[in-house]
Amino acid sequence: MSQQNDNLKWLNLTRLALPVKVLFTGYLMAIGVGLMMAGLQILLTHGMADGKFGLSVDDIVYSYYGNRTGSKLETALNGIMKDKAPPAERLEIIKWVRNGADRKTWEQKIKPIVMKRCAKCHAHIPTLPNVTKYEVAKKLAAVDHGASIKQLTRLSHIHLFGISFIFMFVGFIFSFAVGFNRIWKMILIFTPFAFLIVDVASWWLTKWNPNFAWFTIIGGFAYTAASTVMILSSLWQMWIMPWRGQYRDCNAWKGECDR
Ligand code: HEC
Repeated sequence: MSQQNDNLKWLNLTRLALPVKVLFTGYLMAIGVGLMMAGLQILLTHGMADGKFGLSVDDIVYSYYGNRTGSKLETALNGIMKDKAPPAERLEIIKWVRNGADRKTWEQKIKPIVMKRCAKCHAHIPTLPNVTKYEVAKKLAAVDHGASIKQLTRLSHIHLFGISFIFMFVGFIFSFAVGFNRIWKMILIFTPFAFLIVDVASWWLTKWNPNFAWFTIIGGFAYTAASTVMILSSLWQMWIMPWRGQYRDCNAWKGECDR
């Protein structure tokens, strides 16, 4: 080779040595499965917040802003727990909730219903609130203000630190990709970080005004879409392109592989 030896023509996804490809591939596969699990978890936790299956703007509003027209107890009795007691008894409980959840009515009328209809699950399964206890029921009967500031600060910093790491490495691997327009490559790498911040900011804004719930959904979709493109094209360029003999000789980090 008469060229200088620093031109690193092998520095792109198609030409990396197999051990490096295996390392990158293992990481991207684990992250890919992780993203799907995250989606599933959101569906199962937030997805049920409004008592109906599937993620909707209402779920996000209920999680962060709360349901300020009612309480968790009433929402549950009109939603996921609807089939657990006949209408007359549910109405009795809801009336009690709306009248301020006093102890006297609880003892006389509500406790017997709850013992009969709800205890078999709620008094025995540790992850469920024990609605047969007055203190617990009264808390659930209070107007729901959604996630607390304390919960939000905790969730926000874990989310920002943890997920930035994921995007850092996904973006790092993708920076060796070939054949992308340079502007698009930069947009793809930057999008997840930008929308991660939009996502977290939207939780706080939703707590203040429920209309911002849309940004949570937009943020989530945007960074999932951008990382999916980066993960799939990285895998394609490491395995499918070489398998088809489509090697590139260019230094990705010098910008030689961009279009
Ligand atoms: C067959 C078991 C079962 C019975 C009976 C039952 N529940 Fe539930 N309840 C559950 C489960 C499981 C959940 C959690 C559902 C979820 O989060 O997706 C739940 C959730 C709830 C919640 C929401 C708790 C929260 O923190 O958001 C409330 C409130 C509730 N139940 C009240 C009641 C009341 C009141 C009754 C009686 C009229 C009742 N449940 C009867 C199983 C039961």
